Amino acid sequence: MPEPTENSPNNPPEHVAIIMDGNGRWAVNRGLPRIEGHRRGVQNVRGIVECAGDIGIRYLTLYAFSVENWQRPDSEITALMNLLERFLHRELATLIEKRVRLSTIGRTDKLPHKVRLALDEVIQKTSHFSGQTLVLALNYGARDEVLDAVKSYATAVRKGEAEVEKLDWPIFARYLSTAGLPDPDLIIRTSGETRLSNFLLMQSAYAEMLFTPILWPDFGPEEFRSAMDFYWKRERRFGKTGAQVRHDPQEPALNP
Ligand code: FPP
Repeated sequence: MPEPTENSPNNPPEHVAIIMDGNGRWAVNRGLPRIEGHRRGVQNVRGIVECAGDIGIRYLTLYAFSVENWQRPDSEITALMNLLERFLHRELATLIEKRVRLSTIGRTDKLPHKVRLALDEVIQKTSHFSGQTLVLALNYGARDEVLDAVKSYATAVRKGEAEVEKLDWPIFARYLSTAGLPDPDLIIRTSGETRLSNFLLMQSAYAEMLFTPILWPDFGPEEFRSAMDFYWKRERRFGKTGAQVRHDPQEPALNP
């Protein structure tokens, strides 16, 4: 369990995760095809990654394609995959220049071959950077992630590499696709929806949540900085009392 820490601009969240929602509505509101919304959504990513780096956020996770998104029309899936591939080719130089490491969570082996090739290239060429990490959640679903972790853990037990009696959360977390990443401190969802949609369900246990009506293509650096103001006003207690967190000696003792 993380210890409560001072929540102030001197102490940026370590990990912010974003559900980038509302691309379709952004386009439809303008009489444009949905894919134009996705195109603008992808364009928006660079500014947010840069802004997160400026603030000192070490991990930024973006929910780019969920396991449920395969149910969309084939034409939209193809367009999204093409946009993703182009994004990776286009952003490689910037990621290297800004020293941002790329990594992924989700079942990326099921993505189209050309997308996997592009991902492999960017991951490999940025693997030595350690200051800022951009995590793309691709073909990601939290329930699948838990099932995969349970299967891997059961295999380890069968091979005698893990002991059931010793299982605790830090051990189990090593089998999740987020192994090595800190839990998100803040989860942002754009477009007014107020649900997690199978995103980081285990890791969000103590995350602060910001649901904003702004559609993803309109959620720029200014809006991201406002989200930080929201975060910095939260008191993170991790199960403790407010007085404990504030080290407030004035709180009256409980009557027995
Ligand atoms: C939700 O909008 C968005 C998605 C399902 C895809 C998000 C993907 C991107 C922004 C592009 C890929 C990202 C990267 C990092 C290259 P929606 O279509 O559900 O919008 P709607 O709810 O208004 O229809």
